[in-house]
Amino acid sequence: MITMKDIIREGHPTLSKKASDVSLPIDDKTKKTLKEMRQFIINSQDEKTREEYELREGVGLAAPQINLSLRMLAIYTEDENFETQHDYMMINPKIISHSEMKTYMPGGEGCLSIDREVEGLVPRHKKITIKAHLLDPKTNEVKETTIRLRNFLAIVTQHEIDHINGVLFTERVKPTLEGIKPIEFKNIEEENQEANI
Ligand code: NI
Repeated sequence: MITMKDIIREGHPTLSKKASDVSLPIDDKTKKTLKEMRQFIINSQDEKTREEYELREGVGLAAPQINLSLRMLAIYTEDENFETQHDYMMINPKIISHSEMKTYMPGGEGCLSIDREVEGLVPRHKKITIKAHLLDPKTNEVKETTIRLRNFLAIVTQHEIDHINGVLFTERVKPTLEGIKPIEFKNIEEENQEANI
């Protein structure tokens, strides 16, 4: 299982490298790694497992963060209204279109590869359309899919796609953002609206 010791941190060269496409059809070993990445996120969200293995809670993980320079990532989280569970294992994802309108995390972004508090806000597209090959956790099959995402899910996905392009959110932070509205989380105080992505 993946634990924090497998996750490389800020300053490691793999985090600033553009990752390579995953060859398709995806081989069994790479498929297994992607499923382990998803399981890490699920484990990190379970209080007991998180404490036992000293994990940091997260909602997404990209392959370069485990020192594997491949274009694949896992996202496992609810939307900002806690209405829909999103569960994606994306292979070679591409943003094919996005809104001009932007948004941001009101409490800033966090990252499992960054161990310090980073001040500032990260502007992101409010809506994106992604084309990716998705690995289905139930059937174990891979299918090319187009997905439309907005708000929190759009932010998380842009943060993860940055990772496969060798970009950390620290390169995008601004002290203030004018003319942009943050996303609103249901029933959470604004200062606590932060997530490790
Ligand atoms: Ni990150």
